[in-house]
Formats: sequence, structure tokens, C-alpha cells
Amino acid sequence: MKTRHILTAVAWPYANGPRHIGHVSGFGVPSDVFSRYHRMAGDRVLMVSGTDEHGTPITVAADAEGVSPRDIADRNNRIIVEDLVALGLSYDLFTRTSTVNHHKVAQEIFLGLLKNGYVFPKTTLGAISPSTGRTLPDRYIEGTCPICGYDSARGDQCDNCGNQLDPTDLIHPRSKINGETPLFVESEHYFLDLPAFADALGDWLGTRKSWRPNVLNFSRNLLDDLKPRSYTRDIDWGVRVPLEGWEDRDDKRIYVWFDAVVGYLSASIEWARRRGEPEAWREFWQGPDTDAYYFMGKDNIVFHAQIWPAQLLGYNGQGGKGGTPGSYGQINLPTEVVSSEFLTQEGKKFSTSQSVVIYVRDFLSRYDPDALRYFIAVAGPETQDTDFTWAEFLRRNNDELVAGWGNLVNRSISLTAKNFGSIPAAGELTAADRGLLESTAGAFARIGELLERSRQKAAATESLRVVAEANKYLSDEAPWKLRETDPGRMATVLHVALQAVDDCKALLTPFLPHSAQTVHELLGGQGIWSAAPQIEEVNDLDDGCAYPIITGDYTQQLATWGSTPLTPGRPLATPTPVFKKLDVGIVEEELQRLAAKTAADESK
Ligand code: MF3
Ligand code: ZN
Repeated sequence: MKTRHILTAVAWPYANGPRHIGHVSGFGVPSDVFSRYHRMAGDRVLMVSGTDEHGTPITVAADAEGVSPRDIADRNNRIIVEDLVALGLSYDLFTRTSTVNHHKVAQEIFLGLLKNGYVFPKTTLGAISPSTGRTLPDRYIEGTCPICGYDSARGDQCDNCGNQLDPTDLIHPRSKINGETPLFVESEHYFLDLPAFADALGDWLGTRKSWRPNVLNFSRNLLDDLKPRSYTRDIDWGVRVPLEGWEDRDDKRIYVWFDAVVGYLSASIEWARRRGEPEAWREFWQGPDTDAYYFMGKDNIVFHAQIWPAQLLGYNGQGGKGGTPGSYGQINLPTEVVSSEFLTQEGKKFSTSQSVVIYVRDFLSRYDPDALRYFIAVAGPETQDTDFTWAEFLRRNNDELVAGWGNLVNRSISLTAKNFGSIPAAGELTAADRGLLESTAGAFARIGELLERSRQKAAATESLRVVAEANKYLSDEAPWKLRETDPGRMATVLHVALQAVDDCKALLTPFLPHSAQTVHELLGGQGIWSAAPQIEEVNDLDDGCAYPIITGDYTQQLATWGSTPLTPGRPLATPTPVFKKLDVGIVEEELQRLAAKTAADESK
């Protein structure tokens, strides 16, 4: 059988600030669960992403601090890299959009589209300051959002409703610099001819069957309203437009979203170049034996189910105007766009400006990564908006993770360590013994199928149900009562229980990679069961600038998707608790911390 190739394309976190737990519940944890599962199942996985560093919000942040956009991007890139590693997200390459490689690839896609006639120049209205006559970049224009009525929408986007805008869409536009009404004069831009992809996009979406229904419906509805979209912007920070007369201009760049989505491809190419096999990316992007899954929050669907597929179709020469592939050759469209809904916090929308926010870094300074990963997997916003509350976090952690899975591990390992010191051999099996072993071994197919379809909530819930079954077995068989009366039976029961623990450890590895490694060691296992990502300081392959990447060697890990028989006689490690039970007091503490932050912000 051919090895399956899986590209896990993870949305690129925007580098205008640190990321909060709402962000990582959308793109982060789900993509890692998926990748870890596929690696265990024997597939070859390439998981790529990076920080998204261009666009208006970063220039706004830079202006506010009196530093350069690059300074802002550098700082947040490093924070984000450290946070994602702390969560155990197993990227093969997490890079950034400021690399020379990324700029070149983004320009190649633009040129391929231009060659096939899918981007065209058009004179539109751009803003200038009437008092100085100079171009007013999008970020300096504010006004009322035509969609939601928010009065401080920006020329590129409304931060209230999240819609992408053009400066001319704004009602009562004004300059942020001096309040004057901008003058709209003719300005040249390039546009992506989205209507030319109506049929091709429709055909492609028509073949997408197993997507989450909310994502598929949303994507199909987008086809009703296809208008040309501006590929370039009036801004001085981003990927240059690779054309004579444009390349050297300081006021024109490729629109941030149109460069960012190309990141999946550019990061794959960078990954291949760093391995010294510059063509290796092709295995994940070309031909029929590879699938590509894109993970993100729902505000990103437009760009992954419409814009990026259109860019690829145009590059391939597969839109309504035909054409031929660019120099990379034909590139695959997404197999699936896996989008989550939003996480709210204590009933409110996450908002950095209003202090309704729990940063990943703060969270992990007080709680374990697997506790957060578990909450996101089992109670995250998979198909509907979902609320994070500290009370629910505490309950899930204490009642399910600690009292369920932690308890099973502790009971069975401590009892065996005390009475046998090593894994005992089993005698003859009863119906109950066989029932449990069949159930844990049989769970791999069932849960694997759910993970295959990104039904991660169901998969996590089902894994915990198997854990509960093992806990019930242990209580029913009560091996602690057999020490004197029937030591042989005690050995058999504990052997079966430990085998169930080992199976559950494997089932839970995609969700809980850190504690799975601990359980592996408690069971006397050697080596790396589930590999952790690492930060590496590297130099840009083209201009030598230093930056940190996330990478890892996940091919040497032992984790496999299936039951592995335990070897009797293997010594057990000294038992230690795997999860921390949280004190009920943390709920009040966290709510007060939040209130204090809000109060501090309001008095600013
Ligand atoms: N930076 C965007 C966000 O944070 C996501 C970009 S995904 C990409 O919502 F593909 F465009 F990079
Ligand atoms: Zn709005």
C-alpha cells in the first residue's frame, strides 16, 4: 500500500499581539490532534504554519509605539512561537511571512495568476489627504462600518463585525491623522477576478462531502456573491508587487490576506529546502496521493474556501479563462476546510481591547497544557460557539481528567507496583477480562474514524467512555481484595487493567501528548512515546536574518494507533500522580484576576 500523505495546514496567527485561548481553540489544538493521530496511524504528515506579519493592524501597532512594523512582528513572533511550543503543537515547520522565501512564493502565485489573466489592473478610488496631497494608507482612514454601523471601522476591515472593507465602503470616512475628510482620487490596483472561478469553485465544492455541514453551507453560500477583489493595497508594509514600475513603489503592496494564505505553500517549500530536499514539498501538494486539511476559526473561512482555492485554480489555469500552470506545476486545492466556531469567555466575546481575554501564556503559567488541550478537545467550539468558564474548566479537569483517567492510571499502577513491582503475567481470562480488552482494542477503529473526519469532540468523549469502562472493571473485579485469597487472579486482573491503561494512553495521545509520555514511563516504557516540538534558532535561507522556528522529529516516536501487548516482567516506575486536581478556589481567583484587569484598563 502507498503511504498516505497528509498536509496539515494551520491558520497563521496574526503577529499584532500574543494569542489567547480562543485563538488556539480554533486553529491550534484541533490541528495538532489531527496531525498526531495521522502520524500514529502511519501516515506521512507535514504540518506547517507561521506568523502572519503584514497588513494594517501591525503598522497601526508600530505607529502607536513609535517602532517599526518589523519590531512588532519580531517580538510577537517569538512570543507566539514559545506559546505554541508550550502547548505541544507539533509543527514540522512554523515560520513567518517575513522570510524572503515567502515573499518570492507569494510573488510567483501573483505572476501565475497574471499570466493566465485572472488578475487585472483597475483604477479605483484611493484616499489622499486633501491638505498634503499624499496617499492616505488604509490604516489611516476610519469611518462607520456600512455593515454593522460600528463608528471606528478601518479602511481595510471592521474590528467589530470582522468584515473586510475598502476605504470607499466607509460611511463618513475621516483621516486618523488630522480628522479631515479624505479625498478619493484615482489609484491603480490589481484585482483577482473571482467571478471567473464561479464554475470551478462550484464544481470543487460540489465534490466536498464530508466537511462539517456549517462550513460547507457557508462556503457554498459564498458563491452567490462573487465580485473581483482587490489583490493590492495602499500600504507600505508587505510583499511587493512584482511588476515593473510597481516593485520599487513604497505605497503599494500585495493585500495581507492574499499573501498570508500562500504561506501554506511557501512554508512547505521552506521545510523542503531546510531538509536539503528542495523538491520534497511536492509530495504534499501535487498528484492524487495526498490530502490537505486546513484548520482555522470561522472568521477565516472566506479566505480558505474561496480566495485561496481561487488563487490555486487560477495559477493552475483551471478557471473560466483556462490557462496553463505556473512554474511550480499544478497544485492541489484543499481536501477539507476544517473550521471551528468561536470560543467565548464567561459569556462574552474575547476582546483584547476590553480585557476579555485569557492569554495562552498566562494560562500555561498556572495550569498544565494537557488540561487546556483536554478542555478544548472535549468542550471546545467544534461546530457551535462555546463558552469557556473557569467553573467548567475546573469541573472537566477534576471530574473527568483527574477522577476518570488519572484515577485509572494511579489505581492500577500503584496497586501493581506495590504487589508485583513489574507487569504481571495473566492467567486464564474470564469473560469480563476479554470483554474489556476487546473493548479497548476495538476502540481504535471507532475513534480513528471520528478523528479522520475531525469529529474530535466525539472522539475525546468516546475515549473517556472507554476509560470509564476500565474503571468500572477495576471496581467490579476489586483486585485489592484478592491479595491473600487468590494472588493468581489478582495478577490477571492487574495485567488486564494495565493493558487497558496502555490502550487508553494510546487513544488519548493525540489529545494529551504530555501526560501520555508520563504514563508510558510509569508503565516502564523507554524512549519517546509522543514527541514534543522544539524551537530552533535559524537564519533566513536567502538573506541570513535570524529567527526562531518550531520544528521537531516526529518520525522516531513510538506512538502507534493500536493496541500493543504489554510484556510481563517489565518493571514499573515509581507511581506519581499524572494530573493535578485543582482547588475550587481557582474559580474565584481567576474571576477576580479578570475583574482587576478590566478595572485597571478602564482607569487608563
Ligand atoms: N492571521 C489570520 C488570523 O489570525 C489567519 C491567517 S491564515 C492565512 O485570523 F492562511 F491566511 F495565513
Ligand atoms: Zn462592522
